[in-house]
Amino acid sequence: MDLKIRDANDSDRNLVLKFCKNTFSWGDYIEHVWRFWLSEGHLFLAEKQSPLGICHAFYSKDQIWIEGIRVNPNFRRQNIASKLIKHAETIGKEKNLSFSYMLIDTENFESLSMANSLNYQIFQTWNFYSLEPKINLHHNVIFAKSLNRELYPQYVKSWRWLPIDDEMLASFFEESRIVKSCTDENSVAIITDSEHFDRTLIVTLFSKSDDSVLDVVSFLQNFGIEKNYERIQILTKEKLPTFDSLEYKISFHLMKKFLV
Ligand SMILES: CC(C)(COP(=O)(O)OP(=O)(O)OC[C@H]1O[C@@H](n2cnc3c(N)ncnc32)[C@H](O)[C@@H]1OP(=O)(O)O)[C@@H](O)C(=O)NCCC(=O)NCCS
Repeated sequence: MDLKIRDANDSDRNLVLKFCKNTFSWGDYIEHVWRFWLSEGHLFLAEKQSPLGICHAFYSKDQIWIEGIRVNPNFRRQNIASKLIKHAETIGKEKNLSFSYMLIDTENFESLSMANSLNYQIFQTWNFYSLEPKINLHHNVIFAKSLNRELYPQYVKSWRWLPIDDEMLASFFEESRIVKSCTDENSVAIITDSEHFDRTLIVTLFSKSDDSVLDVVSFLQNFGIEKNYERIQILTKEKLPTFDSLEYKISFHLMKKFLV
C-alpha cells in the first residue's frame, strides 16, 4: 500500500500519541501541542493502513517553521519523514516562501543526518538554559523603546524562531517586552509567554558581556517571581556566566534551507 500524506484530524490523536510517548529520554511533548497545532492547521500525517508519522508546519511571511517530526520507530528509514517534510516544503514553495527552518538537538544525529539529506544546513547554534524565579533586586535594566533589527533579527515564540518585523517590534515596545541592560555594553532580552505551557516565560537573550547579561538575568529572575511564573526558559547563542539557579540544559542547531 502506498504512503499517503494528508492533514491530520482529531480522530488520529490516539493512534499518533501511541508512537509519540517515549520518543526522547524525557518522553515527548506532542500530546501538549496536538490541539494547538490542529487548530493552527498544517499538521501533516503520513499513513498506510494507520498513521505512521507526523510533522507540523507553521508558515509565516517568508519562512516555513517545521516542527514535531515523528516517525513510528517500527517504520523508520522508509523515507516517511522525508516525504512529510517535502510535502510541507511544497506548500511553502506554492506560497513563494524563501526559507525553511527546523530546530534539532545537537546530539540528535539521526535527525541531523535526515536534515542534511534534505539539504538543510546548520545556520546557528542556540543554548537552552532554565532559570528559577526568585526575588532578586540586583538588576539594572530599562525597557527598550528602540532596537536595531539588524543586530536582533529574530526572536523565539513558543520554540519557533521567527523574524522580527516592524509591527511586532511596535507591539513589543508597547507591551514592555524588551529589556536592555544599563551597563555599557547592552545585553537584550525579548520576553514572551509560552502559548502551550502555563506560567512559562520564554526569553530570547542576546548577551554582550557577562556583567550586562547578569543585569538582565537578575531582572528576569525577579520578574518571574513577581509575575508568578513557574519556570523561565532562556534561549541564547552565547554561553552564559555561572549564576545562582541558571542551569544549562541542551544546545540546538537551527537548520536552514533555501527553498528557491
Ligand atoms: C529522525 C526521524 C524523524 C527520521 O525519520 P525517518 O522516516 O526514519 O527518516 P527517513 O527515512 O526520511 O530518512 C531520510 C535520510 O535521513 C538519514 N537518516 C534517517 N535516520 C537515520 C539514522 N537513524 N541514522 C543515520 N541516518 C539516518 C538517512 O540519510 C536517510 O536516508 P537513507 O535511509 O536512504 O540512508 C525519526 O528517526 C524519528 O522519528 N526520530 C525521533 C524523533 C525526532 O528525533 N524527530 C526530529 C526532531 S527535530
